[in-house]
This record gives sequence, C-alpha cells and structure tokens, in this order.
Amino acid sequence: MSHFSYRNGVLHAEQVSLDALARQYGSPLYVYSKAALVENFSAYADACRKAGRDSEGALICYSVKSNSNLAVLNLLGQQGSGFDIVSGGELLRVIAAGGDPRKVIFSGVGKGRDEMKLALQHDILCFNVESIPELHRLNEVAGEAGKRARISLRVNPNVDAKTHPYISTGLKENKFGVAYEDALDCYRTAASLPNIEVVGIDCHIGSQLLDDAPLLEALDKVIELIDQLAAENIHVHHLDIGGGIGITYDDEKPVAIGDYLARLFARVDAWRKEKYAGAAIKVMFEPGRSIVGNAGVLVTEVQYLKHSEAKNFAVVDAAMNDLMRPAMYQAWHGVQTVRQEQNGAQVYDVVGPVCESGDWLARERELAIQPGDLLALTSAGAYGMTMASNYNTRGRAAEVLVDGERAHLIRKRENPADLFALESIVS
Ligand code: LLP
Repeated sequence: MSHFSYRNGVLHAEQVSLDALARQYGSPLYVYSKAALVENFSAYADACRKAGRDSEGALICYSVKSNSNLAVLNLLGQQGSGFDIVSGGELLRVIAAGGDPRKVIFSGVGKGRDEMKLALQHDILCFNVESIPELHRLNEVAGEAGKRARISLRVNPNVDAKTHPYISTGLKENKFGVAYEDALDCYRTAASLPNIEVVGIDCHIGSQLLDDAPLLEALDKVIELIDQLAAENIHVHHLDIGGGIGITYDDEKPVAIGDYLARLFARVDAWRKEKYAGAAIKVMFEPGRSIVGNAGVLVTEVQYLKHSEAKNFAVVDAAMNDLMRPAMYQAWHGVQTVRQEQNGAQVYDVVGPVCESGDWLARERELAIQPGDLLALTSAGAYGMTMASNYNTRGRAAEVLVDGERAHLIRKRENPADLFALESIVS
C-alpha cells in the first residue's frame, strides 16, 4: 500500500499534506513515511517468521548506505533490524541511533585499520571480508587489539544480476568480493590465521533486481561452497545472501519479498535436511532499497518555467546534489504535482539550478505547473539523501519523518555557513 496519496486534491504522506510540510520546513525537503518503513521491514520479518525462523535463524541487516538518517536507523533497530555498514562512520551512526553493534556486519572492499579497530571494540557480529590482503590486515589489527575477528568471505558467484552495470556487483569483472574459484583457498587461509574466526559466507550480486532467479542461482553456488568447506572441516554458521530486491519506480514489477524469501528458505531447508540432518544455518539479508526506497519522496518548488524552441524546462529548487540518481544512472523517478488537477499540461524537463547540463531530475514529463507549485519526486527514499553533496555550495535538504498525523523534523536544513565551517584562510 502506498502511504503517499492525494487527499482533497493534495498529495499527503500518511495524513500530513506535503504542502503544509514545505511551508513549514521549506524546500527541497525529503519526506519519509514511518508506516511505509515499518511495512517494508515487516515484509522481511514476517517471511522469516513464516519460515519458522526466530532471530537466531534469520537476521535482516538493513543496508545503512541506502538511508542513514538516525531516526530511520532507530526505527528499524526498534523493529529488530541489524545493520549492514560500509564504514566506521556508519557504525558510529548505528550506535548513535541506539542500534545494536552485535547485529552489525561490515562490508566493503577498502576497510581501514581504524575502522577495523573501531568495529572490533564494539564487538560487531561479522566482517564481510573482500580480499586476502584485507584478511591479513584484519588478523593483524585483531591481534593488536587482543581480539578474534569473526569473518565471512564475500564470494563473487559470477552471476549476472541483469541490472544497471553501475549497480551490478556479482560479475567477475566487478571489484567486489573474492572470485568463486579462489574462495576455498581464501577460506583455508582464513582458517589458519590465529586472530580470525570463520563464521559465515556472504555475497551480494547487485541492486534493483526485479527477479529473484539470479539470487537463487547465487544461493546455489554459495551452498555448493559451504559443502566443499564442510568437507575440509571448515564450518560456517551463517549464510548472507546480500540485499538487492528492487522497487517500482515506474512500472517495474519486482518479485514480492515474501515469495522470494519463501523460495529461498525452502531451498535452504531442503539442502540442510539432505546433507546436514536438518541442522540449522542462520540466513542473513542486507536489504536497503526495498525497505526505504518507496518510503520517501523529495519535495521541490518550481522556480521558473523556461521555454525554448526545442524544450520546455521547469527549473526547480532541488538539483543533482540533492538527488544524484538521474544524473548518475539516468534513473527514472516519478514526478507528481503536490496539488492535483491542474490545467494546461505541457511536456517539461525538470532541471535543477546546478551548473551542469547533467543536472536534471526528470525528462519529458507532462505537467500542468506554474512557478511556485510544488512537485514530489517519488521513490526517493533510498540513495537520495545519502548520496547528496554540497556541490555549488548548496546546503543539503532537510528531512522529515511522518507518523500518522504527526511530522518530525529528523534533519535540519544545512546553512551555507555550515558548509565552510571546517575551512580556513591561510594568513
Ligand atoms: N549489501 C551490499 C554489500 C551492497 O553493496 C548493497 C548496495 C546492499 C547490500 C544493499 O542493496 P539494495 O538492497 O539497496 O539493493 N546508489 C545506487 C545503488 C548502489 C547499491 C550499492 N550496494 C542507486 O542509487 O541505485
């Protein structure tokens, strides 16, 4: 169910009008729906429960990079979520939001020593190691800290996720993970290191996947490896299949989360029954977009309408620095007028004030608009605010979380002075 809908001709987030929010907090403004976030998380949690898995049998580690606002992390933590992080900064966010570091897994190809140390101090659940040099560094850092680091190896199953090349990560030519053929050897090395404890195996093949077939193919390859490891007396306690389930931006029809998880658990259970006398293995997920993507919109105000011979432009007050996805991936976001039923539609490119031709948010959309009107860019909850920058010395947008008829400011708008506060003039 969409929690963004028109009521009395005005687009609302739950029961709060986006018009009222823009008046109160200004624009551009990110607006999230709490009910949508909870509903999306529950789709995962309910499917785990349905498969008879408690928190020991399954763990959903929300991918912090997709939307890392403290209020979002706090809310998901309260729902029982763990967290998939890719930096020390994200770990500190999780902790600041009251998340449990023992439910944190740390992915990423370039973990620094300080980040490893910090994660070890907080006793995180697992490092998803992506290379042999990283393994050796982690062994060293853990030794210095007098700890053993729990690890899983991110295996690259060489499965085509059939998504945008920039967000496909499981192919041979990608920088992520260790090659499938090298995985056994890497595990042998890991098992021989004194300050490393092998606990799991993980993969992540890409993002915005509409079909679960590539994920189930990756699962089969991971299962095969686990069997090979077991034959060498290397036992893993969890398998982490990553995130990646897509959302509807336009007319895409992604697989239902419940269906995907049901198929996945059925395979896992059948395999455990056949080969391990039914001994359980914990299954972990790292979803981002499918939890937060459709739980957020970016509200922006039309500044000017510009008509040239070739095109009509709607210049709005949001730009590529606020929502990078169109410029970076030619991504498509819906554009809805906050006030419904307006007359005199024309076809516009919706563009921002940044000095780049690539600064567009939507192209060739039929809109009936006047300067001063508000637009909502839809499905902007994931990889929207987290990828925002200060290019052109533009302060980043404010963020609001709506809960029923209440709205909470969860991030203030940045002032220009905030942007150069860390800089100094050389005297
Ligand atoms: N786990 C790992 C290791 C990842 O690299 C990612 C996303 C996720 C989990 C979460 O994937 P999701 O469930 O959100 O698909 N900025 C791009 C998306 C980049 C995805 C990077 N990795 C975009 O705006 O489309």
